[in-house]
Amino acid sequence: MAVRPIITIPDPVLRIVAEPVTVVDDEIRTLMDDMLETMYAAPGVGLAAVQVGVNRRVVVLDVAREEDDRQPMMFANPEVTWTSQETSVHEEGCLSIPKIYEEVERPARCKVSYLDRDGVLREIHCDGMLATCIQHEIDHLNGILFIDHISRLKRERIVRKFAKAKRLLNAEAAE
Ligand code: NI
Repeated sequence: MAVRPIITIPDPVLRIVAEPVTVVDDEIRTLMDDMLETMYAAPGVGLAAVQVGVNRRVVVLDVAREEDDRQPMMFANPEVTWTSQETSVHEEGCLSIPKIYEEVERPARCKVSYLDRDGVLREIHCDGMLATCIQHEIDHLNGILFIDHISRLKRERIVRKFAKAKRLLNAEAAE
């Protein structure tokens, strides 16, 4: 397993619509393992393959509480098949937008179909933290970030801040 570098905004890679996984093979399983290691090292509760620059519909999650044992979850081609009318608001963050946290409203519950680590088609019913996180990660596979769900003013302010920080870093590197 290996920790891979995480891509941050405003990198256009994060806006790519990821390609479906055709077969869950050893390459995909290695990707899942690396993504979990990268996520735990960050630390974070979820990661999509696009965030490590891999154009595939793969997501990993672990929404276990810190004091509990790890509960790694791996998804290939996850797809929301149902959402509740009822919504909930949770504060979200993202490893591609470090140190920014904003409240986001999403359906409170959802059903998601996916292929597991062995390529078996499964469906899970999600609520609470899992529902929020899995919707956030599936958004990534469609080039959508959680800041797309907040006001345009706030979003533009955040993107400008990250773009400026990157320009400063590049200027320092060029010196
Ligand atoms: Ni994210």
